[in-house]
Amino acid sequence: MKIGIVLGTRPEIIKMAPVIRECQRRHIDHFLLHTGQHYSYSLDKIFFDELELPDAQHNLEVGSGSHGVQTGKILAGSERVFLEERPDVVLVQGDTNTVMAAALAATKLGIKVGHVEAGLRSFDRTMPEEVNRVIADHTSNYLFAPTEASRRLLQNEGIVSCVHVTGNTIVDAAFQAKEIAARRSNILSHLGPVSSHYILATAHRAENVDVKERLQGVLRGMSSVSEILGMEVLFPVHPRTRARMEHFGLEARGVRMIDPVGFLDFLQLESNARLVLTDSGGVQEEACILRVPCVTLRDNTERPETIEVGANVLAGTAPQRILDAAKQMVERERDWINPFGDGHASRRIIDILLEDVKQ
Ligand code: UD1
Ligand code: UDP
Repeated sequence: MKIGIVLGTRPEIIKMAPVIRECQRRHIDHFLLHTGQHYSYSLDKIFFDELELPDAQHNLEVGSGSHGVQTGKILAGSERVFLEERPDVVLVQGDTNTVMAAALAATKLGIKVGHVEAGLRSFDRTMPEEVNRVIADHTSNYLFAPTEASRRLLQNEGIVSCVHVTGNTIVDAAFQAKEIAARRSNILSHLGPVSSHYILATAHRAENVDVKERLQGVLRGMSSVSEILGMEVLFPVHPRTRARMEHFGLEARGVRMIDPVGFLDFLQLESNARLVLTDSGGVQEEACILRVPCVTLRDNTERPETIEVGANVLAGTAPQRILDAAKQMVERERDWINPFGDGHASRRIIDILLEDVKQ
């Protein structure tokens, strides 16, 4: 069996890393196709270095662009690579343009597709990610759903066979890296006087940061949380967000803005935070896994499990709602159960593929 593993952005590199390691461990024939959707060191190479991943055999270097241009380049480029490599199955992870375009390219060549993290739905088709994940799910032959709830969502759309509940590979990634992060990361001492009571914030979702009023609301929310709760807010800023802040002439008063950090440093910051404020999908999951309360800066989430277990609340982008939610969650007892699996999702994914290809 030959597996083509596709990745293109920060979360895909992090969440595919355990799958790559599993292929290495079991000597499975595989190759990596990097689309180059993310290319800045802090969103790309740092994760290959830290997680000791091999370089991708193929890099399409598509870079940034409009949805049509970026998706088109990935579609054409990955088709070329799949024709050359002839994998038995292509694995994609998540909901980015990389995922949707590579899944489509493989499907049209008659190559089987496995979607890791299948069956997530925000039911908000204005989000590019929702469109991407629906298309990926409906073109995939293997749907690796993280939870039973995701399986049910797929069932509601008529996708019944080929769905496997495996857990989310972010649990594998976090468990594998957490101990190493605690030993190797010196981010807390490096950042200087971050008090032991601080809040970690991220924001990069297009629907938040590309709209001036919403981005302003998020930033004001962070400022007032810092002021009223009397805790430093540490904000590693995604390049998209930094560019939009400059474009709109916005700043975040009282918030400590830093460049994006690597996974080990981020896990270390997250594990020790009193609270997380985020619009990221992966960060909502990680906070839940690491037992750090989370306030999500969105009106909906495709990770409802985090809310059901009491680890997360939705606050939208209005400053007062963000503040109210932060006050409520910072006191939350950290006694919930991680709904995303036991850290062996990648092993199950490879087991399922091996079993199926043997038949
Ligand atoms: C993409 C995904 C999003 C995912 C996020 C993870 C889509 C539609 N969006 O959003 O689902 O949550 O990745 O972080 O697939 N930029 C850089 N360096 C880079 C990459 C981007 O500076 O390496 C800047 C550029 O200004 C670019 C902007 O960020 O225009 C947006 O990049 P893009 O890949 O289009 O989307 P993300 O916001 O990163
Ligand atoms: N992350 C990181 N450094 C940062 C911010 C986030 O390593 O400065 C990691 C984080 O641990 C998580 C992933 O990036 O695993 C989430 O990616 P992102 O928020 O970019 O995308 P999303 O999950 O929303 O698609």
